Amino acid sequence: MRIAVIGTGYVGLVSGTCFAETGNDVVCVDIDERKVNMLSNGQITIFEPGLEVLFERNLKQNRLSFTTDLKAGIKDAELIFLALPTPPGEDGSADLKYVLGVAEQLGHILEDYAVIVDKSTVPVGTADRVREKIALNAKVEFDVVSNPEFLREGVAVDDFMKPDRVVVGTSSERAKKVMERLYNPFIRQGNPIIFMDERSAEMTKYAANSFLATKITFMNEVANLCEKVGANVDAVRRGIGTDSRIGKRFLFAGIGYGGSCFPKDVQALAKTSEENNYEFRILKSVMEVNQAQKSKLIEPLKDHFGGSLKGKKIAMWGLAFKPNTDDIREAPALENIKILLEMGASVTAYDPEAMENVKITIGDSITYAESPYGALVDADALMIVTEWPVFRNPDFKAVGKLLKEKLIFDGRNLFEPEQMQELGYTYYSIGRECTSSEIFTH
Ligand SMILES: NC(=O)c1ccc[n+]([C@@H]2O[C@H](COP(=O)([O-])OP(=O)(O)OC[C@H]3O[C@@H](n4cnc5c(N)ncnc54)[C@H](O)[C@@H]3O)[C@@H](O)[C@H]2O)c1
Repeated sequence: MRIAVIGTGYVGLVSGTCFAETGNDVVCVDIDERKVNMLSNGQITIFEPGLEVLFERNLKQNRLSFTTDLKAGIKDAELIFLALPTPPGEDGSADLKYVLGVAEQLGHILEDYAVIVDKSTVPVGTADRVREKIALNAKVEFDVVSNPEFLREGVAVDDFMKPDRVVVGTSSERAKKVMERLYNPFIRQGNPIIFMDERSAEMTKYAANSFLATKITFMNEVANLCEKVGANVDAVRRGIGTDSRIGKRFLFAGIGYGGSCFPKDVQALAKTSEENNYEFRILKSVMEVNQAQKSKLIEPLKDHFGGSLKGKKIAMWGLAFKPNTDDIREAPALENIKILLEMGASVTAYDPEAMENVKITIGDSITYAESPYGALVDADALMIVTEWPVFRNPDFKAVGKLLKEKLIFDGRNLFEPEQMQELGYTYYSIGRECTSSEIFTH
């Protein structure tokens, strides 16, 4: 099939590449000339495990190409995917200017029947608005379909190639057949394509992300309470996760969720509720709790140093909003850096993939280390923000020697408190009692 993907970011590049991998002829369009040049020259623009091999193969075999020219990009395309940004507007609702802007352009340039697919996360009713925008100028027939994307950064290729399910919202039989043909190679293991109306498909995406954000947040609140009552959230997690109604995933306590999706999608669903005179109370709590959770380690850090962080040097492990990505959008690390700098501390950070993106955002306001251990030199404490695998089993002897004091604030519960105590560390984590070397030696 001939496919155009408009918007070549995390979703667009992964979708386009994976569609090419199943034998389709894909053109990815983006307004960012630098990005298009890099991609056309075989240089990948994001870090996503497993993507580069597929990208290189399909580029070489001419099934994947890149352009800034929308008209040339959609020529002869049977399917036109919109993988455009939908950032939060000032009031928290999803800003549709990119999606509707491209829809308007499409109306002018469509030459033949095509299925226009909303892959961006968009509020309920957007498919209708996109249809109206295109129809203003279109001289040919077209269908608009909602096909929300559920890939997770870090495992995006796997998620895309073997999705748990594909959700397609359409009321057109013609479009349904096209979508079925496109996705059949991706569901050979028996996972379903779930067809529904456009509004339900749009709602499905927000409901899924908001539910997951709620699950994380619920567990963070359980963790906060565990600290107060002397329980251990890891034990509680194991205790409840084995209940098949609850499930084992998304139960890990930590310093809050971030990323380009959960924060904005929860906010946008809350806004949709408000616009429809419905008060979605859980969502409000989720946003509030998560905001507070992000800086949860600051208080004990400050207390440890007698109420002031002025002049303290903090080593930070992890900047990306989660492991295996270079994405730093809404990353808890950035929030913590901001607070630490405001309090007069300095930060030396290490992240395997995200440092370049952080440099672009906050420049030299922090120092960047070349290795996890490099960040520790003469630091007063280590703060762990992202659970990259490389941080999971460090040489604690080396860590202890490099730090001024054996002091770790772990926002992702990477280590066992008892082990840290035996190693002589003062160790703060989430939802587990602080273990202190001093207590141990007495
Ligand atoms: N990132 C994720 O994990 C993820 C997962 C599922 C769904 N989504 C949703 O997918 C959508 C895209 O997200 P993303 O993370 O890929 O965003 P992104 O910012 O990485 O990519 C968007 C791309 O669109 C380009 N663009 C902007 N205006 C354009 C225009 N007029 N014409 C062509 N290109 C244009 C930008 O230059 C950018 O490259 C969002 O709605 C997001 O909520 C994201």
